[in-house]
Amino acid sequence: MSNPSLLILAGDGIGPEVMVEVRKIIDWFGSKRDLTIDVTEDLVGGAAYDKHGTPLHDDTMAHAQEVDAVLLGAVGGPAYDDLDFSVKPERGLLRLRKEMDLFANLRPAQCFDALADFSSLKKELVAGLDIMIVRELTSGSYFGEPRGIFEENGERVGINTQRYTESEIDRVARSAFELARKRDNRLCSVEKANVMESGILWREVVTKIGAEDYPDVELSHMYADNCAMQLVRNPKQFDTIVTDNLFGDILSDCAAMLTGSLGMLPSASLGVPMENGKPKAMYEPVHGSAPDIAGQGKANPCACILSFAMALRYSYDEGAEADRLEAAVEKVLADGVRTADLMQAGAAKPANTSEMGDAVIAALDTSL
Ligand code: NAD
Ligand code: IPM
Ligand code: MN
Repeated sequence: MSNPSLLILAGDGIGPEVMVEVRKIIDWFGSKRDLTIDVTEDLVGGAAYDKHGTPLHDDTMAHAQEVDAVLLGAVGGPAYDDLDFSVKPERGLLRLRKEMDLFANLRPAQCFDALADFSSLKKELVAGLDIMIVRELTSGSYFGEPRGIFEENGERVGINTQRYTESEIDRVARSAFELARKRDNRLCSVEKANVMESGILWREVVTKIGAEDYPDVELSHMYADNCAMQLVRNPKQFDTIVTDNLFGDILSDCAAMLTGSLGMLPSASLGVPMENGKPKAMYEPVHGSAPDIAGQGKANPCACILSFAMALRYSYDEGAEADRLEAAVEKVLADGVRTADLMQAGAAKPANTSEMGDAVIAALDTSL
């Protein structure tokens, strides 16, 4: 049997910096666990624009469709802010999500014990926190038509459209119900059915699926604004959350801070099953290219490392190795090795990106 394949798209800013650490970990699994992954690397975002004049070359897109999984670092940055909208770095990422049809974006927010002190919330509110946000990723206001900037009555108007079909809601809801079943069996569906027709449809479809096919899962509904508030008031009330593209983007950044840092949050973007039965998949940290710290060795590589752990679990059927990698990250944090984002200003000298990666490798060694 051939080795599993991975396309790495490191992207911009801290993307390539954190990816260096993931490469070390991939090599470790090859040499120490006999788990060899065939890795190819290519450009995305601003880096692709600089070389090809487009944030995602067609050849890269075609390759992404063929591999078992894609691992993406981050895209964007101030150097590209003034580019025409159609070639902005973020368009490359959105094209990958859309053309690979990665409709279910899993954003787990777990608070490691060692970081409970560091959350912006009180320790008792976040200790043991384990939430799974399932964000719809290929529709909604990110892709709905009409969209654009138009002239109307002598002034310009910017338009984006929140649009969801029943089948789009159905498939992401089913993914979320399935995940909830493997967790604490509770699903909270989040929209704004009080003011948006798309929210009314969302609630109807989710309610029907729940009643017909998942009566064992405890289903609740919440308006998105209340959900944002509840996430910082009492986050442990949530188990699995399912929501649309835009609300999911915002709520997952919010949930990130509960865990201590945006630099900790991984994600898996999953699509329909391929011939091998595994879903099409792209793994990406939730954070962006962090222009304020790029090039300084300060980036926390954990989100990207933990995204690779999700690839081990969901694309490579290596759940035990994913557990091993997650435990290694947890051990490093418990041992007090921290990048600057996980320390109070003026505290002990933080680890740099590469020291953090090396500490994870050392923890993996001790796991053998
Ligand atoms: P950001 O996530 O890049 O940064 C927000 C803050 O979090 C910054 O202070 C940054 O230093 C910090 N941070 C983020 N990741 C970190 C890490 N791993 N370690 C330590 N600190 C970390 O968000 P932004 O500043 O709003 O966006 C910057 C650029 O990134 C924009 O062009 C945006 O479009 C893009 N972006 C890309 C992605 C992606 O590629 N998936 C996600 C979000 C934002
Ligand atoms: C994310 C990012 C992206 C999004 C951008 C960079 C397109 O914020 O992955 O959370 O808005 O989905
Ligand atoms: Mn985001």
